[in-house]
Amino acid sequence: RITELHAVEILDSRARPTLAVSLTTEDGIRVRAGVPAGASTGTREAVELRDADPGRYGGQGVLTAAGQVNGEIARSLAARDFASATEIDRALIDLDGTGTKSRLGANAVVGVSLAAWYAEAARAGRGPWQHLARTAGTTPRLPVPHFNVVNGGAHATGGPDIQEFMLAPLGAPDFPEAVRAGAEVYARLKARLSAAGHSTGLGDEGGFAPAIRRPEDVLTLLVEAITDAGYTPGRDGVAIALDPAAGQFRRPADGRYLIDGEALTSDALIDRYEEIVDRFPVWSLEDGLAEDDGDGWVRLTARLGDRVQIMGDDVFVTDPALIAEAVARRAATSALIKVNQIGTVTETLEALRVCREAGWAQMVSHRSGETEDTFIADLAVGAGTGQIKSGAPARGERIAKYNRLLAIADADPALPYGLAGP
Ligand code: PGA
Ligand code: ZN
Repeated sequence: RITELHAVEILDSRARPTLAVSLTTEDGIRVRAGVPAGASTGTREAVELRDADPGRYGGQGVLTAAGQVNGEIARSLAARDFASATEIDRALIDLDGTGTKSRLGANAVVGVSLAAWYAEAARAGRGPWQHLARTAGTTPRLPVPHFNVVNGGAHATGGPDIQEFMLAPLGAPDFPEAVRAGAEVYARLKARLSAAGHSTGLGDEGGFAPAIRRPEDVLTLLVEAITDAGYTPGRDGVAIALDPAAGQFRRPADGRYLIDGEALTSDALIDRYEEIVDRFPVWSLEDGLAEDDGDGWVRLTARLGDRVQIMGDDVFVTDPALIAEAVARRAATSALIKVNQIGTVTETLEALRVCREAGWAQMVSHRSGETEDTFIADLAVGAGTGQIKSGAPARGERIAKYNRLLAIADADPALPYGLAGP
């Protein structure tokens, strides 16, 4: 039974308001959750509430969403006995009633959902990841971290068109060594960028944001930095993952993709990706096409799906139904998983289950606007996804997740590290 639910407006890592939700139970458990926010969002994501008062935070305030938690949600939930966090999630979905969480606000709903799961784990005397594994019936493992070391697109003005260039230490023997590889390559990359006269200022996810347009030029630098740091570029050492977030550079008028000064059709862009995969140790490609390029996704998967992981983010928005549909159409081979895209932990676990049953890989993800909350680290371990992305090995809100994973690795040396099996 919930005795107190309270939301307050705090800041995210981009100096925009977001929510912190604290929850107290009858038996004296008190937990707090922070809500993340994206910048390159899918059109079918759960809808967050922003105040639209131009006099406060440029219209980005979340006092209305806080009011939903402190008012209607608190009144409704505090009056009842709940057997589980899942029941609380179901009650939130029903109370909202819209399917997109737009009435109560996805930011309000996700804050309460995260807090409910923290509280349930605490009541059970378990860490969040042990509790999530127990509830979902999954085998825990430490995920391969995907360090976003070059930021572009909507995350860094003046950077590359491709939003994310990530390092994936697939060949690391364990999680701490994976973190070490990420940090060492990051340092070597910084040195190379400085030496070449590029800016080493950071984008929203802690990666560098040099004014280099051609993706191949960034990839060349990454391979050099991996080698400089003493690692092998590729799956035996440090591989590369891309998130072009292609919906951000698709021209609505004719559906062409504006990349690096060219206007490419879907097929020309797929050709370009194939050349990239031929030349560079890229192992995963997220949002290589826009969410409304449905046939393109099928062609991309047919062409490259047995060479690289074809991952959908904006196109699936962690929605179990959209993932199931894409499984049937062979429109990808894996899904990115973000709790605030769908709104509750229960629906997120459902999306993960759909992936597992289809033999699809899953990567748990932060948002470009983050807080110090570390729920996603526990989710990645507990659900045994084998993959997480939480930005560069830099900036406090990114490091909070990696440091949480280091603490889990230290406390449970028996946990396996690496990609989940088929
Ligand atoms: P977002 O981007 O958090 O800004 O939406 C992250 C991503 O595209 O993976
Ligand atoms: Zn993405």
